Amino acid sequence: MIPVNEPKLAKNTLRYVADCVRTGWISSAGSYIRKFEEAFAGAIGVRHAVTTTSGTTALHLALAALNIGPGDEVIVPAMTMIAVPYAVLYTGAKPVVIDIDRDIFALDPGRVEDFFRVGCRFDRRRKAWVNRRTGGLVRAVLPVHLYGHPCPMNEIIALARSHGLFVVEDAAEAHGAIYFRGPKKTRAALAGTMGDFGCFSFYGNKIITTGEGGMVVTDDDALAERARRLKDLAHSPGKRFLHTELAFNYRMTNVQAAIGLAQVEEIDRFIAVKTQMAAAYGRGLAGIAGLRLPAEKPWARNVYWMYAVVVEDEFGMSRDVLMAELWKAGVDTRTFFIPVHRQPVFSEDPAAGETSCPVAEELSEKGLYLPSGLALTSGQIKAVCRAVRELARR
Ligand SMILES: Cc1ncc(COP(=O)(O)O)c(C=O)c1O
Repeated sequence: MIPVNEPKLAKNTLRYVADCVRTGWISSAGSYIRKFEEAFAGAIGVRHAVTTTSGTTALHLALAALNIGPGDEVIVPAMTMIAVPYAVLYTGAKPVVIDIDRDIFALDPGRVEDFFRVGCRFDRRRKAWVNRRTGGLVRAVLPVHLYGHPCPMNEIIALARSHGLFVVEDAAEAHGAIYFRGPKKTRAALAGTMGDFGCFSFYGNKIITTGEGGMVVTDDDALAERARRLKDLAHSPGKRFLHTELAFNYRMTNVQAAIGLAQVEEIDRFIAVKTQMAAAYGRGLAGIAGLRLPAEKPWARNVYWMYAVVVEDEFGMSRDVLMAELWKAGVDTRTFFIPVHRQPVFSEDPAAGETSCPVAEELSEKGLYLPSGLALTSGQIKAVCRAVRELARR
């Protein structure tokens, strides 16, 4: 079976992990935490990086550091990983679900604008936008750079500015993805570095992995300081074990950070491998009717975390049948995410946004991703392409 994701660890991994074990520094107090944070901040071009236990806790920490809480609402894309709306709910706020873009599966700024125009009113007293249906204050937008392609951040940031929203980017799947802000690709920013906070996951299938783990990044000194305090139980600055507010233990271990540091040292090579893999898939799958290959907008560098394709009606076989046939042919695949507003967990307390998101609903039925792990060989990519091509001929 060709696995959907087999990680490849960096060459210094064993040396750094052995160092933790040899010295006894296996908790979160070891020196690899700082080294990993500094290396990651340097690699993506931000002032501060704060390690966490996962991408999920990174999202929660960022929202909590921005004081998002009960009565607030956070705009999220309709098709994303469940960790995104969960993180909003952990704060006591509500997710506002908005439909996505058909090409890159990102939060659609046009639909966000519609939501404000039709679904909200400006409350002069509180100087904030209020959701007409729920009465909640819309406080933040949480764009997700899905499958390695950056979101249209200029539009999202402009909307956030004009409506007084914080921006928390979810770059869990987009380490190293680039958004070119200027017309001639002159001004570039990496996914996760453009909002008030950027959040990353280092789960085993991510481009950089620590097994489990995450990071929040920001250029804002005060926000970084607040995130650091909240992730470590919020000890009072002058007096340890004195606590004036509710906080969390989201501390990463030194062993995880050691694995992460070794990975960051090779991030450019990992991204180059992903790009080459995508090019090989692009060549092998070109011209198959009804199989839509992943886009790369002129203003973006897609890092192709997962090679995500859409099986259109013309293909002649549904996405689910294609996946079952590929499985029989020894190729493992995964479906796109189920839309947030269709998740049974929300059935009794529906999210506060759109109740119908036709693009997300359609793509979640038609999208799948092909094997994309860093350990994938060119022979395996050829075998996957051959299998898809044979099925397309049926
Ligand atoms: C887009 C997105 N956000 C958040 C997460 C949560 O990260 P973690 O699994 O590290 O908690 C993931 C995935 O794993 C993800 O893909």
